[in-house]
Amino acid sequence: MSLRFELSANPQPRTEEEVAAVLADPGFGAKFTDHMAVATWTKSGGWADGAIKPYGPFQIDPAGAVLHYAQEIFEGLKAYRHADGSIHLFRPEANARRLQTSAARMMLPELPVEDFVDAVVELVRADQRWVPDSSGEKSLYLRPFMFADEVFLGVRAAERVTFAVIASPSGPYFSGGVKPVDIWVTDTYARAGVGGTGAAKCGGNYAASLIAQYEGYEHGCSQVLFIEAADKDRVEELGGMNVFLVKADGTLVTPALTGTILEGITRSSVLTVAAELGLKPEERRITPDELFGGIADGSTIEAFSCGTAAVVTPIGAFRSVNGEWRLPEANPHTLAIRDAILDIQYGRVPDTRGWLRRVV
Ligand code: PLP
Ligand code: COI
Repeated sequence: MSLRFELSANPQPRTEEEVAAVLADPGFGAKFTDHMAVATWTKSGGWADGAIKPYGPFQIDPAGAVLHYAQEIFEGLKAYRHADGSIHLFRPEANARRLQTSAARMMLPELPVEDFVDAVVELVRADQRWVPDSSGEKSLYLRPFMFADEVFLGVRAAERVTFAVIASPSGPYFSGGVKPVDIWVTDTYARAGVGGTGAAKCGGNYAASLIAQYEGYEHGCSQVLFIEAADKDRVEELGGMNVFLVKADGTLVTPALTGTILEGITRSSVLTVAAELGLKPEERRITPDELFGGIADGSTIEAFSCGTAAVVTPIGAFRSVNGEWRLPEANPHTLAIRDAILDIQYGRVPDTRGWLRRVV
């Protein structure tokens, strides 16, 4: 039987003025709506207690398993308001399936795709006044997540788990908007290794990336590019985004899915859209020599990062302890891909692939 996410309305919702103030300048990930979706799972009873209820803190016992062993996974997707006022999700089933993949890796329970999508849809319906208009590329960022909240210190898969979705009006992830970002390439720190959790969207991967991210900040960079941990012979992804290179010969290259990087939904959408823009997409190994050498010899003409939060953001330069490799300033292919994706998300072109799901 599937879950039902019935609304138990917040008795003290924010005023229209308060909502308007947030939507005018939402930032990223700092302001939250009036409600959240929740459901719980137990080993004996399966999924139960689905609800949309007032946004508020969880009570977690100090011995709650997630606080000790980090059995936690999450997702990220957005709700977009179109010019006619309607509200749409972008490929939510893909996020639902990826949460299942992450859950399998982290020994968390599988949440059916329809329950994931229902939770998100019902939350967006309840909080629809929080979905900004499309000016300034604003949207409602949705953060589904699942964590082990069994009270038990033994190391084993939790037998009690909470799933929740929260929503946060958001603007561009990088405060400079579409301005190119510089990327630090670390060979000191690894994010994930073969057999590890790189392909799962689990909180621990992000905790492991922070020290490299701060190393990047010290070198004036806003994100870090990780290289494969053992042989250091292939480029992987950024701390929170996938990476693409545009070649002078018209190919668009991104690291293949080797089990150590996240299978980005934006990545997959870019691969589809780019082929229609006349680029030749290739998923394959990119060595650090190709990354740096290609910029130096002019065979790589553009680079960009992509993800739900970052959309498609041009990369200005890669920097490492060995120097800086700066890309040309013009990013015509990157910007065409970015526009093509945003046009679909904001309903400015017909959705010919069935990627949008109308909510309101
Ligand atoms: N890689 C990492 C590590 C991420 O955190 C994200 C963001 O979710 C991505 C890639 C891009 O994935 P998506 O396009 O599905 O948001
Ligand atoms: C997303 O794009 O949804 C992410 O989870 C990435 C994170 C850096 C915000």
